[in-house]
Amino acid sequence: MYYGGDYNPEQWPEEVWHDDVARMREAGVNIVTLAVFSWSRIQPAEGVFDFDWLDRIIDLLHEGGIGVDLATATASPPPWMHERYPEILPVTRDGVTLSPGGRQHYAPSSPVYRRLAAELVTAMVERYKDHPAVQMWHLNNEYACHVHADYSDNARDAFRAWLEDRYGTVEALNAAWGTSFWSQRYSSFDQVLPPRIAPASSNPCQMLDFRRFTNDALLQCALMEKEIIRSAGATQPITTNFMGAWPAVDYSAWAPHLDVVSDDAYPDPNDPQSFRAAAFQRDLMRSLKPRTPWLLMEQSSNALNWRPSNAPKAPGQMEALSAQCVGRGADGILFFQWRQSKAGSEKFHSAMLPHAGTGTRTWREIVRLGGMLDSLPTLEPGSPAQVALVFDWENWWALDNPDHPQNRLDYLAVIMRWHAALQRAHIQVDIVPPEKVGGEHRLAIAPLLYLMRDEGAAALEGFVEAGGTLLTGPFSDIVDSRDHFLDGGFLQRLGTMLGITLEDFGALVPRDADEPGEREARVEGAFGDAVGELFAEEIWLDGAEAVATFSSGRRLGNPAVTRAQAGKGSAWYMATVLDDDGCDSLVRHLAETTGVEPVLPDAPSTVDASRRGDVVTLVNFGEDDAVVAVSGTNLITGVEVERMTLAPYEFAFVEQARP
Ligand code: GLA
Repeated sequence: MYYGGDYNPEQWPEEVWHDDVARMREAGVNIVTLAVFSWSRIQPAEGVFDFDWLDRIIDLLHEGGIGVDLATATASPPPWMHERYPEILPVTRDGVTLSPGGRQHYAPSSPVYRRLAAELVTAMVERYKDHPAVQMWHLNNEYACHVHADYSDNARDAFRAWLEDRYGTVEALNAAWGTSFWSQRYSSFDQVLPPRIAPASSNPCQMLDFRRFTNDALLQCALMEKEIIRSAGATQPITTNFMGAWPAVDYSAWAPHLDVVSDDAYPDPNDPQSFRAAAFQRDLMRSLKPRTPWLLMEQSSNALNWRPSNAPKAPGQMEALSAQCVGRGADGILFFQWRQSKAGSEKFHSAMLPHAGTGTRTWREIVRLGGMLDSLPTLEPGSPAQVALVFDWENWWALDNPDHPQNRLDYLAVIMRWHAALQRAHIQVDIVPPEKVGGEHRLAIAPLLYLMRDEGAAALEGFVEAGGTLLTGPFSDIVDSRDHFLDGGFLQRLGTMLGITLEDFGALVPRDADEPGEREARVEGAFGDAVGELFAEEIWLDGAEAVATFSSGRRLGNPAVTRAQAGKGSAWYMATVLDDDGCDSLVRHLAETTGVEPVLPDAPSTVDASRRGDVVTLVNFGEDDAVVAVSGTNLITGVEVERMTLAPYEFAFVEQARP
């Protein structure tokens, strides 16, 4: 188990470094992420490098037995760069040039930024590739954290080249973007721009391609750094820190390029349900690289500084969230940051070693967590799940575009609602794009798959054909990968298998909106009653049976949930977005009928349960004691258990005998 955090020694006089290493040893720290924001210190002027201080701290850490996750330091360009090359700065959709003075002020497509970043990474890797302390390389930092997309002239030129590469001819581009609409036909790639702010909605195909381009431009930056590291002969694993389901970057396309997936997660201590969103994020990380442990690269030891109100974590909450990560596949717990800063934007952000020193609850918890992690045996990577929850970035981007029947859809919130229902039922789940459904999966839940690639549709069909159960809808199988309708209506790929046709989307006014209109559609069905939101679609049975019907509103009496036998499996469709109760009852019903086994058959819903091989991790995130029937060996105490009572934020790792 890795244990440590971001370490920024350049913020401190060297005499503090010795205390840092001593305290790190006391806390059980075995790795620190170094040099994330050190560019201006490493390279004070173009062509001038100062590595002496970095040599000294890396040696000091090594003497103390502490490894280094060495960052490439390219995340915050130094002042000399924009002074000499102002064209590296990114530009917003509204045309505002983002100034330096914060961080991440670079245009990813800027050839100058890339050249200078490459020079820095080359110098870093040449110097440190053989240093025994260096255990990992950390590319940049949180790509697209602040700049979700750059609309500068650098981006314009690179976008044109990207389009030419993708489409070959301007005729093909015109066809893909449907430019006959609103007189948008291009006669040359040189006329194309990023979707900068325009008088009316920008072309949705252009917007979608710009999201793809932005993702690719950032990935190219990462791959450039990776290539430099590998061609210099460095053999350590390479990672970069993800940020959960981050809208700007399609991590499912990034993960195959990395040796280790790592994640930064900051659940809000003010939200008693934030452990559910956290569980979603952990499962996403586990699923991005199956059978490979991931790292929690950053979390906070206590309060943050960047939310409107920054509550402290409750006693034990940080350790409980750390245990949740381990249970859901993490082999390391790291923090932002090691020692709390004395100045700068993040001086109020908690750290492993607080400003108030070692006589604090935070420090005691940090030391205790280090000891606990050190006592754990090696765990298998996360177990493959029997349930797949389909989450797809391209679909998210397409749904995000304006001018849809329902323009107040929060795709991520809907996906997380299904994940929370699975979590309440203690069912382990993989979070995957449609193409990755299959294998061990018995049940696949694919809500709101508006943009469906042909490959994704084929995978879902093949899954059902082979005996799987698919639950999809509403607003699914509407457009192809270009964001075009298919000829013949909606559900053109899955409709036959689902045994229904879709005539109208029946948008509803969101439940919390202050305006007239129908807001919910009651649903009555074999699996229980529920309330539908956002859509009450007009669907017609064409081979399927209605499992639930609408019992209120304009679709009264019409099918709301349907089921059809197809191949060896079955295909379900929902004509609305079900509320929590609806998701809970449908999950229960489908788990029973498909034989999906929960991690624990019977435990309070506030207990987070996950499995790694024979080891079940339990964390009580409820406000009361939770009694859980679980038999095995408690890995922390060594005691055999049959039943456990977990206090709030108490956790346990229980090794079960193989059946
Ligand atoms: C991000 C960054 C860190 C730090 C933290 C604060 O995760 O990577 O440098 O700013 O946020 O929460």
